Amino acid sequence: MRILLISAFFYLFFNSCNSDNKDTNPVAVQPKAPVAIEAANFTEISFTANWNSVVGAQKYFLDLSNKVDFSSFVFKDREVSDIKYSVSSLTKASDYYYRVRAFKDGAYSKYSNIIKVTTLGIGINPNVNLKDKVNGDFIVGVAVSSDKLSGQYNTVISNEFSSVTAENEMKMRSIYTGPGQYNWAPVDKIVDFAVSKGINIHGHALIWHRSIPDFLDKFTGTDLEFENLVKQYIFDVVGRYKDKIKSWDVVNEAINDNGLFRDTKFSQRMGSNYVEKCFKWAREADPDCILFYNDYGTGDNIPKQNAVYKLIKDMAVNHTHIDGLGFQMHITYNSPSLSQLQIDLKRALDENLKIHFSELDIRMNSDSSPITSFTDDRIQLQRAKYKEVVQLFKTIPKSQRYGITMWGLKDNESWIPGEFGRPDKPLLFDDNFIRKLTHTGFLEGLE
Ligand code: XIL
Repeated sequence: MRILLISAFFYLFFNSCNSDNKDTNPVAVQPKAPVAIEAANFTEISFTANWNSVVGAQKYFLDLSNKVDFSSFVFKDREVSDIKYSVSSLTKASDYYYRVRAFKDGAYSKYSNIIKVTTLGIGINPNVNLKDKVNGDFIVGVAVSSDKLSGQYNTVISNEFSSVTAENEMKMRSIYTGPGQYNWAPVDKIVDFAVSKGINIHGHALIWHRSIPDFLDKFTGTDLEFENLVKQYIFDVVGRYKDKIKSWDVVNEAINDNGLFRDTKFSQRMGSNYVEKCFKWAREADPDCILFYNDYGTGDNIPKQNAVYKLIKDMAVNHTHIDGLGFQMHITYNSPSLSQLQIDLKRALDENLKIHFSELDIRMNSDSSPITSFTDDRIQLQRAKYKEVVQLFKTIPKSQRYGITMWGLKDNESWIPGEFGRPDKPLLFDDNFIRKLTHTGFLEGLE
């Protein structure tokens, strides 16, 4: 009986407390604090703040500050009924911090963790590596020089890229120092670096009229002897790096800008079918190697474009099938147009070729109107062009994608200013290895 009475007492007591609670809510249970998570949708002036939902929370209150200690606010206690909030009207390339708390039945949670956000601007980008974003779908490469392979250069390359090629050191003029004489050391250094990092290696380029060694250029022997020197070279180089160098540009730039076959030492000495001969030897030297023909400027030059596809088709008629076509892609922020590039690409896809955007750099200076200081507008157009080119690459059926190779890592190492005789900043990284907005454009293209 006594136990019954005591139980009844406690029952009534607690019930009365509960009903009190319902009416006045003096001591509401504090909800759990939300977990703030990485922001998204970065632009120069906006981003989306995100956090995880809290069970039962009716709304959230978001704080935004320029100070990590929230000693001042861009805004405080902005009421949000969702688990994300799009923040706008910010300053570019600036740091912001956000935190959020949940609200439930009249009670606030503690603050979440703090998330740091940097709006986009020159040299400031979300912390995403190209290679991770591509996720093995195709190679994303960069042209390197063996003498730069150390320190931060190596770190950035192995973090961001899944493939390398040599900007110059795999060319004939660098390797072939005399009959039977080879300068392997720089190539070996690049190959060893790539193998140690598990990075793909693309070979560039076995035959190029602008990289003929003096001894071969001035060779006084017979045409057949000349041809044999070239043949031996191809066998020796492709053979030496068999299984390591997975693809080669066999012939580079055999067609002139006027659409005619380029008149070079190779065509003079070996005949106009020298291209085909070189592909045959490369195939024999390494049957598994992916063999490319590589050229530039076919997007907005139809006679040249026609000549490139004629060359490839004619070889196929003769049973010399090449595997892929390298579009060098030394282009400008405003040219060629997307539709010009699409038409060119479609022709290559129709030939069943693998596609390599093999030497990508996008100039900020166009041929007609050189500028020396680069405006925000121009920078945005260059970024947009990177996005467009990468998006275009992504339209290629997976089986025909080889990859995209950047023609250099940092702006101050680019060949463009020297080649065109005016300043430019055509690459993805600035002189201090900082990602530029072009890098953002590349990432945007991969979305
Ligand atoms: C360029 C290099 O970037 C320069 O350093 C060098 O002086 C000349 O060659 N097309 C090609 C590349 O196929 O090999 C060229 O590379 C750029 C144009």
